Amino acid sequence: MESILKSDSLYFSYHSNPIINGVDFAIKKGEICSIIGPNGAGKTTFLNLLSGMLIPNAGDVFYKNKKITKVQPNKRRELGISRSFQITNIFMQHTVYENIRYAVQGVNKQKYQLFKSIDSMTDISVQTEKLLEICHLTSVKDEKCSDLAYAEQRLVEIALSLAGNTEVLLLDEPTAGLSMEESRYIADFIKQLSRDLQLSIVFIEHDMDIVFDISNRISVLYYGELLLTDTPEHVKENKQVQEIYLGEELA
Ligand SMILES: Nc1ncnc2c1ncn2[C@@H]1O[C@H](COP(=O)(O)OP(=O)(O)OP(=O)(O)O)[C@@H](O)[C@H]1O
Ligand SMILES: [Mg+2]
Repeated sequence: MESILKSDSLYFSYHSNPIINGVDFAIKKGEICSIIGPNGAGKTTFLNLLSGMLIPNAGDVFYKNKKITKVQPNKRRELGISRSFQITNIFMQHTVYENIRYAVQGVNKQKYQLFKSIDSMTDISVQTEKLLEICHLTSVKDEKCSDLAYAEQRLVEIALSLAGNTEVLLLDEPTAGLSMEESRYIADFIKQLSRDLQLSIVFIEHDMDIVFDISNRISVLYYGELLLTDTPEHVKENKQVQEIYLGEELA
């Protein structure tokens, strides 16, 4: 199967200090690909290059075989590449339903030109309800986001990034700050999401148990370079990876 999103010899530097150094990466439809590596390895920077928040100094990003290297984030979003942001995107004093509806309205804006017709309003309500259901948020839809548990807020963030025709979801440590139990719940949800919607998910995560459990493939980034991309089993067995994570449980 062909890749849906890929990078080709991607290079990015801050003040001529290479942060991403010739990274070739590819994810297929419906796959969960995790990116692991020590603090400062360049994981977030790499995700920013995929989402369009940063433009590389050299190399290219392709989506469905089209070059999108310099395409802006909002345009990539329209194409189907969405990045989940943390908390900042949520209107905390508004309900879960309102938050999701704003996002759905946002992505439908161009389509409906100020949503004048009754049909368009119905359509937006239907899409909002569907997204609530997909993200297990129907039972809390009338609650204020500030009253939700952290894990539920993460679900809202993910729901917001799924509004529209998202095909690739970029997640940067979605379980950060959550308890072990909540992290497990979010990880299971991500796995289910990928399976049910055939979503491709690029996933950055520090918890190795979660990474090995939910990934189809894992890429190891080490100071800007991709050491290897392989199945969880092979990555776990790799000597170099074990050295990098010496002291951390890989088995
Ligand atoms: N705006 C910036 N200006 C200069 N250097 C930066 C900037 N942002 C990040 N860096 C540097 O780029 C490198 C990679 O940072 P990045 O945040 O991508 O790493 P990371 O793998 O996501 O780390 P973490 O696991 O801590 O989240 C680091 O050395 C960091 O100091
Ligand atoms: Mg990071």
